[in-house]
Amino acid sequence: MLKICVIGLGYVGLPICLKLAKNFRTIGYDINSKRITSLKKGVDFNDEFKKEEIKKRNLTFSSKSEDVKKCNFYIICVPTPITLSKKPELKYIDKTFKLLSLILKKGDIIVLESTVYPGVTKIFTDKLEKKTKLLHNHDFSVCYSPERINPGDKERNLNSINKIVAYEGENIEVKKLLINVYKKISKNLIFSKNIKEAETAKGIENIQRDLNIALFNEILIICNKLKLNFNEVVRLASTKWNFINFSPGLVGGHCLPVDPYYLTYIAKKRGYKSKVTLSGRDVNDYMKKHVINFANFVIRSSRIEKNKIRICVIGLTYKYGVADTRNSQKIDILKYFKRKFKNTKGFDPFLKKTDNLKNHELKKYNFFIFLSKGPKFKKIADLVDKKKVIDPFFYYSN
Ligand SMILES: NC(=O)c1ccc[n+]([C@@H]2O[C@H](COP(=O)([O-])OP(=O)(O)OC[C@H]3O[C@@H](n4cnc5c(N)ncnc54)[C@H](O)[C@@H]3O)[C@@H](O)[C@H]2O)c1
Repeated sequence: MLKICVIGLGYVGLPICLKLAKNFRTIGYDINSKRITSLKKGVDFNDEFKKEEIKKRNLTFSSKSEDVKKCNFYIICVPTPITLSKKPELKYIDKTFKLLSLILKKGDIIVLESTVYPGVTKIFTDKLEKKTKLLHNHDFSVCYSPERINPGDKERNLNSINKIVAYEGENIEVKKLLINVYKKISKNLIFSKNIKEAETAKGIENIQRDLNIALFNEILIICNKLKLNFNEVVRLASTKWNFINFSPGLVGGHCLPVDPYYLTYIAKKRGYKSKVTLSGRDVNDYMKKHVINFANFVIRSSRIEKNKIRICVIGLTYKYGVADTRNSQKIDILKYFKRKFKNTKGFDPFLKKTDNLKNHELKKYNFFIFLSKGPKFKKIADLVDKKKVIDPFFYYSN
């Protein structure tokens, strides 16, 4: 009988775990015992799921490795950040495979969902074979299924996103089990017989997005320097059939600022120093400074005395609609203005820690710095005096 263990219950693991628990005996395992305690109470501190959605499922949350032992199908959703020197940090995957090496049984299936560079699944599979003396694609199977979940996106949910499943073995029973399980996660499965190709595909999806946003960020900077209307320039260019439109902005989170370094790391190891893949990173990281310069210029030009300046920085999480602040340049911008002007407040309805911003309070501020694009913020931009709006990306003004 199939018993699934989802390892790592963050933005990726929890939704998968909740979906599978509708159909299979499922254990949600996380080394963070605080996360487990709160999930047992039905509380998702990432604010992605409501209590009813968590509580009604027949599933066990655990931070005990003994519970993982009871399973035979493992889905790994642990973090893959970068180190301070911007190298892939694989210690969470390493720890997971070390645990699996102690409990692996004949017939077990492992699926890695974390974003990695091509070859990582093989590195850990080889180690597993060595430690357990079991034979891969004979005694046990390791597969790769990159995750494309887009937190905060209500339109493209787990069920409707195409899901790649890479399996290199020939065992019909394993294939059936994979389909059986993954059909419950996504209705559109795309199979691959090459794990390294699936690993690379995931990486390039995010690299492409990072580069495209970087290009639009650079065009925005150039338009500012030339005193041109960025939105109008893009509107005109968009009338050409093959022009692809992107929105400039502050790139953050755990994927776009991280994933390019995974592919370039392995490329370099194979003797190729990448020229394009990382070229968007500098511009995207620079945008924090651009926003600060832009806002400082507007504030200075107003000639309002420093002690009378009251700023509200709007949109703090790494993107609109999520509670996640990892690698959020917006938090750094808020910190900067808080240091500079004592009456600075941050507002983001998706972040529990910030205060509310009531309509009657809007009068208190002489500047609103808009850092994210979304309907809740547009409402505020529409309500306040246009002279008070600082909109570095021209989301709400021209
Ligand atoms: N969040 C996204 O939007 C997204 C989208 C696509 C892909 N990914 C990728 O999916 C992976 C997971 O991302 P995430 O955003 O869910 O991360 P996360 O930080 O939200 O969650 C990871 C969870 O794994 C737990 N964990 C760490 N080491 C563990 C271990 N050894 N055993 C058990 N649990 C462990 C952590 O405590 C945490 O709760 C990463 O590789 C990421 O790049 C994320």
